[in-house]
Amino acid sequence: MTATLIRGRTLSFKRAPAGLEDKHAYAYEPDGALLIEDGLILASGSYDAVKAKAAGDITEIDHRPHLILPGFIDTHLHFPQMQVIGSYAANLLEWLNTYTFPEECRFVETAHAERIATHFFDEMVRHGTTTAVAYCSVHKTSADAFFAEALRRNMRMVAGKVMMDRNAPQGLLDTPEMAYDETRAVIDQWHGKGRNHVAITPRFAITSTPEQMSAAQALVREFPDLHVQTHLSENRDEIDFTCSLYPEAADYTDVYARYGLLGPKTLLGHCIHLSEREMDVMSETGSIAVHCPTSNLFLGSGLFPLKKLVGRDKAVRIAVATDIGGGSSYSMLRTMDEAYKIQQLQAERLNPLESFYYMTLGNARALSLDNKIGTLEPGTDADFIVLNMAATPATALKAEVVNSLADELFLLQTMGDDRAIAETYVAGVAAKTGLA
Ligand code: GUN
Ligand code: ZN
Repeated sequence: MTATLIRGRTLSFKRAPAGLEDKHAYAYEPDGALLIEDGLILASGSYDAVKAKAAGDITEIDHRPHLILPGFIDTHLHFPQMQVIGSYAANLLEWLNTYTFPEECRFVETAHAERIATHFFDEMVRHGTTTAVAYCSVHKTSADAFFAEALRRNMRMVAGKVMMDRNAPQGLLDTPEMAYDETRAVIDQWHGKGRNHVAITPRFAITSTPEQMSAAQALVREFPDLHVQTHLSENRDEIDFTCSLYPEAADYTDVYARYGLLGPKTLLGHCIHLSEREMDVMSETGSIAVHCPTSNLFLGSGLFPLKKLVGRDKAVRIAVATDIGGGSSYSMLRTMDEAYKIQQLQAERLNPLESFYYMTLGNARALSLDNKIGTLEPGTDADFIVLNMAATPATALKAEVVNSLADELFLLQTMGDDRAIAETYVAGVAAKTGLA
């Protein structure tokens, strides 16, 4: 394959920015380029320096004046909930029982799972999300449909067959043995195939018996390198119900700790109402609190204490995510706009450099995948996006008065959505252009 030179303004983070003036936290090239070949970034930097490295027959694509960033990473969403988005409910448990569980029952049908998988990956590409961490449904067929489509699209995806054996409709229940056997089968069939990663996925403590939690623990012991994903401390009624189901546990976090499910590959969705003790446990185990702003507002779950978690002596690792379909947008830009407002309501600041760090390198680090995604570093996957801050009449008008990188990022975050994504490159291939 011949190499391709992609020209544009490039931005890639090196670490979490300490503040708006922290220019060492990122590399920004006003006239930058990427040299890509065989799905990887071979070189990045100023256009002149990268061009000098490009030997022989190369294709050149010019995206100026747009901004090139690593592809967005979404660390928590539910593939079977595309048709649940915007369901009118008072709170989490009502929303789950009334809309979400019935909808997920439909994923027993392979044809339905395959149809939704096609739409799912289209939306990821349309919104500039090149890696997502997804819950499938309890049915193995849903995981098969998801991973088959991810393989066809050559996208780096993390996903799991949900384990759940109580407190849900019959059509959505497995057993501890089935959950173990089918998760193993999904691992054997899909993990490491193409760019697929399988995650061990007990839905949450309410829908797993102690026996099923032990099955999840056995899987984690057998496959310690795999990601683990579940939900934690999203809603007060959920917390009370969990504690009543596991009276021996000190608190909700302790339920997962007792089954050995916490650790540096563990992603815990929401984490809104944690006690200091629970935050300490999260910190000590290196577990990740996944912030899902549009979902937390939509379901009225509460305000995520982002600054408290990252700023305390025993800091908690965090990530950001859409949580489709409790979340209301596929866009990581819309997601970080709501994250910003959630901090505003707590008299905290989230600056635009931090936001873009979280959507890219921050989330890659949370997944321990920063050697592959989340940056424009040579040797990493050529998953990147092209952003146009002036994609609509209203943003174009505002863009006239934007004159710094931080202001540009803030405009993209505040008013941007899929229309701001001019192109999405997946393993070096322009994938958004190819959408129907
Ligand atoms: N807790 C358990 N399942 C879910 C889910 O599907 N969405 C949300 N937001 N929280 C959950
Ligand atoms: Zn969720």
